[in-house]
This record gives sequence, C-alpha cells and structure tokens, in this order.
Amino acid sequence: MADSPKLILPDVPGLRNIETYMQHGGYGETLRKVFTMSPTAVTDEVKKSGLRGRGGAAFPTGLKWSFMPKGNEKKKYLLVNGDESEPGSFKDRQIFEFNPHQMIEGILIASYAMQIDHAYIYIRGEYEHWIKMVRQAVAEAYDRGVVGPRMKDTFKPSGDGIAYSVDITVHKGAGAYIVGEETAMMSSLEGDRGYPRVKPPFPAASGLWHSPTTINNIETLANVPVILKMGGDAYSKIGDPKHPGTLLFGVSGHVNKPGVYELPTGTTLLDIINKHAGGVPGGKKIKMVIPGGSSMPPLRGEQLEGVKMDAENLKAAGSAIGTGGIMVMDEDTDIIKVLTRISKFYAHESCGQCTPCREGTGWLLKILQRFEQGNAREEDIDLLHDVAFNIEGRTICALGEAAAWPVRFTVERFREVFEQRVKPGLKIGSPNRVHALRKGGLEPVQIHVPMVERV
Ligand SMILES: Cc1cc2nc3c(=O)[nH]c(=O)nc-3n(C[C@H](O)[C@H](O)[C@H](O)COP(=O)(O)O)c2cc1C
Ligand code: SF4
Repeated sequence: MADSPKLILPDVPGLRNIETYMQHGGYGETLRKVFTMSPTAVTDEVKKSGLRGRGGAAFPTGLKWSFMPKGNEKKKYLLVNGDESEPGSFKDRQIFEFNPHQMIEGILIASYAMQIDHAYIYIRGEYEHWIKMVRQAVAEAYDRGVVGPRMKDTFKPSGDGIAYSVDITVHKGAGAYIVGEETAMMSSLEGDRGYPRVKPPFPAASGLWHSPTTINNIETLANVPVILKMGGDAYSKIGDPKHPGTLLFGVSGHVNKPGVYELPTGTTLLDIINKHAGGVPGGKKIKMVIPGGSSMPPLRGEQLEGVKMDAENLKAAGSAIGTGGIMVMDEDTDIIKVLTRISKFYAHESCGQCTPCREGTGWLLKILQRFEQGNAREEDIDLLHDVAFNIEGRTICALGEAAAWPVRFTVERFREVFEQRVKPGLKIGSPNRVHALRKGGLEPVQIHVPMVERV
C-alpha cells in the first residue's frame, strides 16, 4: 500500500495554495521545457504515455489531441469536463479541492499542444463549494502571471522557445446530468438547452461555436504535467500496460471506509474493497458490485475473484471501468430496490430527444416498480430485458446505454432474484440501508480521503 504512487493527490499539505504548489515544482521547469518543445512533440509524449481518458470511455488522450486541426487560422477551444454527475462518481472534486493547480497546469500543456488560446472549465452547478475553490485557484494563477496574457513574459522563451498564452474561464453548470455528455456540454456553454448533438461532426471538426474543440475530463488533464515531468515512457510503466497510470477510485456503499483512493490501474477490485476501503461491515458477503459508476454493468459477488480495475481487464470480466466509481452491495441488499432507484435517475435525466431513451427509460422504471411493489408477472422479467436491450445502440448519446446496461446485466446475472420476486404470496422485507448499517443512524457518508487536510 505504501508504495502506491500518488501522482494526482500526493500527500502534500496545503497543495491547493499556489505557493505550495510552486514550491513543489509546479508551473516551473516542466512547463518551461514544454514551451521549448514543438506542440506535436508534446502530443507525442502523451501518446507514448498511453494515457486514456478518465471521463468514462477511456479513449487514448494523445490520439484525441492529434485530431485537432493543425495551424492557427481558426479559433480552437479546450473544454474541461468537470460535470461529474454520475451516481457513484465523486473523484474530480478531490482534485478541485486538493490539487487544482495540477489540473490548471494540465490545461496549459494541453492547450499548448493543440495551440488553443482559450479553455473553459465546466463544473456541475451543485458543486458550489468546489467552484469557489477552482475560481480562487484560477485567479491566483492569473495574479502570478502563469495563466493569461502575462504568461508570455513569465515563461519568456530562450533559444527556440515559443511565446504562448492561454485564458481560462470557469463556467458553472445548472445541474443536469446530461450536460456531462460532451456535445450537450457545448450546447449548454453556448447558452442553449443542454441537448446532445448528432455526431458526426465530431467536436474536433465542429465544436464550440462551430470551432474545433477538444473535451477532456479533469482527472485526465491532471495527469498531463506528471507525464511531461517524468516522460511518457516512464509513465507508461505504471499500472496496467494497456491502461497505464493511477486512477482515483471512488468507493461507496457497504464498505467500512468509503472514500477516494488513488491506486495504479490493474489493482484488483477485491484489494480495493478489502484492503483499502476496509472491507464489508460485519464481514458480510458481497452480493453485487457496480465497478465504474451506476451506468456500468453490475458484477455478481462470485464473479469478483481476480478482477483487475482497468479498461481491458474489466471489459474481459464483463463490465467497464467508467469513472472508477465502485459501488459495493452486501448479501442483504435488495438489488431490485437499488436498480429501481438507478432507473429513476436515468428516466429523470433523459433529455427526451430520442424515442428509445425517452420512452424506454420510463418503461424500465415502471416495470421495475412492479417488481419492487410485488405486482410483477413472470413475463415481466423478459420484458424488462427486452426494453433495456432495445434502447442500446439506438440513441443519439450514450445515456441510452447508461440507462440500459445496469438493468440488462442485472437481469442476466441475477435472474433468480427477479424470479423469486414474482412468486405469489412473497413478503418483501425492508431493504438494507447503507448508512444505517455503517453508522447506526442515517448520517451522511463521510468521504475518507486518506492523505490531506480539509479546509
Ligand atoms: C450521459 C453522459 C454523461 C457524461 N458525464 C461526464 C462527466 O460528468 N464528466 C466527464 O468527464 N465525462 C462525462 N461523460 C463523457 C464525456 O462525454 C466525454 O467523453 C469525456 O469528458 C471526455 O474526456 P476524456 O477523454 O478525458 O475521458 C459523459 C458521457 C455521457 C454519455
Ligand atoms: S439518448 Fe437520451 S439523453 Fe441522449 S440524446 Fe437521446 S434522449 Fe437525450
């Protein structure tokens, strides 16, 4: 445990203050070195590192950057995705709070690599506290001349260096899950309703205000200064070779120490749950785990042995890494109740543009409520599966899959639970309550961040 590299949330008290960040090398040699490299060489270093996006799809970051058109004739934008509204995902806010300058430095490097001079950080509206913190960090960076027009003097190039500056605007969202989807975020930022757009055109061809745009997650960008500091090759050797680096795993549900844990990719799911998050209260068995945030396929407790937490290994195990939000449910959990709650969320958050998603999410919820209330018929099991299956791949954006996957895979992997529920005369017991079990009362979850002090 002690040897796990902490690249994103190191054990440095007060790191969110710009002075402390600079004392630890921030906005220093690495950035100066970057400004002497060609933009393509910076992108190549990120490609070499093998960095994959932390916003859910694990798309290779360097490759994404290389889709940006070269040359300066058109205005280009970087859109930084801090919407973080997936139930079970609460890791980006740790960066906002404990290491915002590393994210800002990542924005500067990404912008330079793609020759962008304006970046927007879009943060979910409910994150009032963290929005203030990020605004403060950006203001400090402007004051120090490490962001904005004064960058050209601060990092005055010597020799072949390139004079460069970028502006950063922090934008507060209005609190809709769908604006986390990249094209919906662009619409929202432009002042329209946060509706996803049909792709193509992809954002690199036509994004914000029809200009080429790259969208990256907060954690993705916070990795970038580390890569440029240690070199792409060295970074690629951390964790799983096909999905290198560390991940911020948010662990919630039936564990003794819920919280955010930074660990190398490829760490086993059971190690994260048992060693880092303190195991399951009362030593109970695990019934179900959703390993990547609520939209990912759930796994049965018996399936967990040897499962490694990275994109490729998790895919092989029948799920997906998503945002690394691990939701643990013990043997007493009423998973139909859990699934109904999840489906209620997606039905509420569907923007309504596509019929399969608008109607399908509503039907998933209605059928699940029949199971929850003990009114379901045997044929409802296949009906539920069919509705979920028929949403997938038939919608403008991936909210369709997000709503369908948890339902389809729970029916496939826990069919006996649904069969049991349609037995006549079955009494439904009261559900296991996560907080009541852990705390002996309905108190809010305390985020256990093992390394730094809080404000
Ligand atoms: C419904 C929906 C919600 C999403 N929410 C987020 C989010 O909150 N944060 C995020 O970074 N990506 C989110 N994504 C993924 C983004 O669309 C996009 O792929 C990501 O920001 C790209 O960044 P990355 O390449 O650094 O991972 C969401 C996608 C969908 C379909
Ligand atoms: S899949 Fe759902 S959320 Fe996405 S565009 Fe269609 S209706 Fe809207």
